[in-house]
Amino acid sequence: MKIFMTGGTGFVGRHLCKHLLQEGHEIVVLTRSIKAHGESVGGVRFLEGDPTSVGPWQEVVGDCEVSINLAGESIFSRWSKEKKERIVQSRILTTRNLVRALEHRKGEDAILISTSAVGYYGPRGDEEVDEECGKGTDFLADVAAQWEAEALRAEDLGARVVIARFGVVLGRDGGALAKMLPAFRWYVGSPLGSGNQWFPWIHVKDLARIYSFFISNGKIRGPFNCTAPGPVTNRQFCLTLAQALGRSVLLPSVPGFIIKMILGEFGSVLLTGQKAIPRRLQVLGFKFLFPGLKEALEDLVT
Ligand SMILES: NC(=O)c1ccc[n+]([C@@H]2O[C@H](COP(=O)([O-])OP(=O)(O)OC[C@H]3O[C@@H](n4cnc5c(N)ncnc54)[C@H](OP(=O)(O)O)[C@@H]3O)[C@@H](O)[C@H]2O)c1
Repeated sequence: MKIFMTGGTGFVGRHLCKHLLQEGHEIVVLTRSIKAHGESVGGVRFLEGDPTSVGPWQEVVGDCEVSINLAGESIFSRWSKEKKERIVQSRILTTRNLVRALEHRKGEDAILISTSAVGYYGPRGDEEVDEECGKGTDFLADVAAQWEAEALRAEDLGARVVIARFGVVLGRDGGALAKMLPAFRWYVGSPLGSGNQWFPWIHVKDLARIYSFFISNGKIRGPFNCTAPGPVTNRQFCLTLAQALGRSVLLPSVPGFIIKMILGEFGSVLLTGQKAIPRRLQVLGFKFLFPGLKEALEDLVT
């Protein structure tokens, strides 16, 4: 199939492109800077354009059966008012413009797989959270809900819309794990706050396989938690990571007030979490390669 992708130059997008190319799909990746990537690499064609603005890139969407929407300003830093605005607008405007571009398909079948996050549910303590649960009330929950609402408008154009609510995506070359690895390799990794907050995770290889599952199964639509079936707490995650790296000692937790002092509102995100369960994927019989964290981390860090 022909696939159009926003955010395909990022951590998840690069893995997804590799996986989908191996399955024989053709991919066009929209990027704000073609200089950084060249026009074509390994079978992926790069197209320059800003997804937050309307432009000629939208015509290309009409030639593609599948659109995958990953673009978004990173959330990993202290949030100023301007940063928060960029977090929101980079997702809402991109999704709005992509959905408008689907009008170029002129009534032909289209599939839109748009990203969201389990942050949609907000902080949930020890409650098990599946796709039936309602949205939370914090900033990231509001962003996720608006992001999803924009994508779901494509249903009015006859598209099959799937919302992929990611947990923390684990890969050795990007995302949260790549940020944590240096500290753990140097024996200075430690849990955050109480360490009891849930840490919903997924191996990037499983996430890529889930996209194939979404594309090939024509009945799938709506929101899906893209997390492994074995969520762990932050403390369990840190212990398992330390063990996978052969480090037997774990430092005491970093107190929550220090994390909040350094990272502000974003610090609160690290100190809370969701015990998210991929209920709909399980009901549909999706088979995870890495359902448990130990095997996932051994695959990624050894
Ligand atoms: N990684 C995770 O654990 C995780 C968890 C939950 C949700 N997500 C969401 O999944 C998506 C992909 O994650 P990722 O880790 O692959 O992200 P990433 O590595 O930061 O890549 C995101 C891509 O989006 C584009 N982008 C960045 N800032 C933008 C802006 N201000 N306006 C328009 N486009 C912008 C960039 O493409 P160009 O520079 O080429 O234009 C970039 O390659 C993101 O939306 C993220 O929020 C990720």
